[in-house]
Amino acid sequence: MERNELKKLLADMSLQEKVDQLVQLAGFFYLNDVESILLGPAKEMGVTEENIQQAGSILGSYGAETLKKIQKEYMEKQPHHIPMMFMLDVIHGMKTVFPAPLAQGAAFDPELSGRCASAAALEAAVSGLHVTFAPMVDLVRDARWGRVMESNGEDPYLTGQLAAAQVRGFQGEDMSAFGKVCACVKHFAGYGAAEAGRDYTGAQVSDRSFQEYYLKAYKEGIDAGAGMVMTSFNTVRDIPASTNVWLMRDVLRGEMGFDGVLISDYGAIMETIAHGYSEDESAAAANGIKAGVDIDMMTNIYAGHLAKLVEDGKIPVELVDESVWRVLELKNKLGLFENPYKDADEEAEKKYILCDEHRALAREAAAKCCVLLENDGILPLDPKSGKKVAFIGPYVNRKQMNSSWAFTGDVEASVTIEAAAKEVFADDKTTYLAGSPVLNPGQMLVGFFDFKPEEITEEQQKEMLAQAVEAAKAADTVVLAIGEHYLQSGEATSRAMLDVPEPQMALLREVAKVNENIVVVLFNGRPLDLREIKATAKAVLEVWLPGTEGGHAIVDVLTGAVNPSGKLSMSFPHCVGQVPVYYNAFTTGRPTIPNVPERFKSKYLDIPNDPLYPFGYGLSYTDFAISPVTLDNAVLTADSEIRAKVTVSNTGSVSGTEVVQLYIQDAFGSVVRPKKELKGFKKITLAAGESQEVEFVIDEPMLRFLRADDTVGSEPGLFRVWVANSSAAGEAVEFELK
Ligand code: BGC
Repeated sequence: MERNELKKLLADMSLQEKVDQLVQLAGFFYLNDVESILLGPAKEMGVTEENIQQAGSILGSYGAETLKKIQKEYMEKQPHHIPMMFMLDVIHGMKTVFPAPLAQGAAFDPELSGRCASAAALEAAVSGLHVTFAPMVDLVRDARWGRVMESNGEDPYLTGQLAAAQVRGFQGEDMSAFGKVCACVKHFAGYGAAEAGRDYTGAQVSDRSFQEYYLKAYKEGIDAGAGMVMTSFNTVRDIPASTNVWLMRDVLRGEMGFDGVLISDYGAIMETIAHGYSEDESAAAANGIKAGVDIDMMTNIYAGHLAKLVEDGKIPVELVDESVWRVLELKNKLGLFENPYKDADEEAEKKYILCDEHRALAREAAAKCCVLLENDGILPLDPKSGKKVAFIGPYVNRKQMNSSWAFTGDVEASVTIEAAAKEVFADDKTTYLAGSPVLNPGQMLVGFFDFKPEEITEEQQKEMLAQAVEAAKAADTVVLAIGEHYLQSGEATSRAMLDVPEPQMALLREVAKVNENIVVVLFNGRPLDLREIKATAKAVLEVWLPGTEGGHAIVDVLTGAVNPSGKLSMSFPHCVGQVPVYYNAFTTGRPTIPNVPERFKSKYLDIPNDPLYPFGYGLSYTDFAISPVTLDNAVLTADSEIRAKVTVSNTGSVSGTEVVQLYIQDAFGSVVRPKKELKGFKKITLAAGESQEVEFVIDEPMLRFLRADDTVGSEPGLFRVWVANSSAAGEAVEFELK
């Protein structure tokens, strides 16, 4: 639609009709008969029939047939026949599920994440959706927070690169094009800094850290063109994000230049009352719209109060108009005025959902996200060696390998480890047994859908364990597939213990008594305390929540068909007492000297300062040697560049892929600077015996930071450079910025 027509449309709308464009309801409001809705959920929520008939968008429903029906009936009743927008969380896949975002961080591969987002967008678009509530780009440092799984990790540069790639993958060049959906960067802002890792608490971050670390990835996502942004549940500067004028008007719209649609998180404007910020619903509505939050998700706060606030002269109608304009503009960008059904098409659903290409991509991605944490040489396993392998653990034959944020995923379509292993291992050389439940029997977890606790008796559990031990005794090697329950990570799943559930640890201990050749395959949505597993197993393969093709990908890696190349996107602590632990921490005035026990140093008495596994770490089946870094100049100026070079050699006997990482430290600054910061990475594949020169260009803009006077810029002086295959490896060389 032409801009002037859109303007005319806005001018022609009644106040309540405008307000309702800013209201988002759930799909079920349109799927049941009006009477039961009005007496049930609508009454409970405080929305009227008119609100329902005019609400600008819905969340939570999908399927071409369903959404076309809703759209048709809705548009017939909507006074100006304005189409509705359909939104949903398609986070790491629609029906074909790709690895969880934290896992995708470990692939260090923006191109791959872009392809996964693009495939997810295609499945979502043909299912009738217009907007996905992704990517989630919150920076995370605290493994207790369950939502670390939805993030790409602890580093602003890596998460920024992946944010941009995902936005482009979802939206393409033009979000109205076939197979594309609008991306929504979330949760703005600082949600990942939830205090003590407890969901929905305040983010106690200094303004400086906020700007230097937390805001960066949102900015990348916005610069990549994200059509939407979602607010976060937390407070920032002690004001709830969804009513935070400074955050939304000054920072998001002003400094970051975001001019798209800003949606509240689920009920977040209303929650500002419980926060003790807005005195009542009317105040919450006024606060939300003043902050420029365009859509109120799933409450009656806007629906029930905005019109009256305008009529009473408490807020200017221009505030409402401004938000409605943005919503209409987005509908226009999606091409909905011309084609309200966009790509919703039952035939296309059949063609693209879980198609061979998407499955192949899911398999490729899941394998590339695996991180080999330990290996004494036991891996890879050779299926033709004649050795007996016992696959033990509750994840051996489990299809649910998705995260809790993949509720649209087709779990039944997943390939289990057992099914995949049977394709390559001989039946008479393998056994497959669960050995234990995932959780303690009876333990309750709450998901989006009903959760049934595992109901097994003590006797049955003992029997499972006994059988597993027998199988382990008879095998040469045990592959032990264990980990968190998928509902132990995601929203509202903070954990104070970072452990693998007890029945599975008991299984590990019992198996270890009879067979020392244990390969642990670890499923989890967050860094865990792996000390015991590290001490017990001969190899540990981190597979995260790998998705639909998890089984194939894991067997590909276990057998060496794919050589692992993933690197941790988040540091793994020794134990929970060490969190938050992240590689780009500030320097201290009292650093410890390795192996020198000194009293008054910055340290723990009982664990080292460094994490058990650092950011950027991950092994391969081959060995890589990285030569010392050379710089082609020891001095950098505002308009020159330095080339940092290394030679990477594959010194092992198989081909492999290495993620070569560039870190820089500003040695002295007007404020204290981090120990090092990731500034670039390159993924290279080398045949056995092959070498390649890898070069990074260092220039002055890369060295800019928030200085003591609150301006952004670089400062002359000494810098250190590492080029290595982990944040904890390599020797630094120095240069000077003049
Ligand atoms: C979550 C968001 C999500 C929204 C809609 C909220 O509870 O925090 O991440 O997009 O629900 O499903």
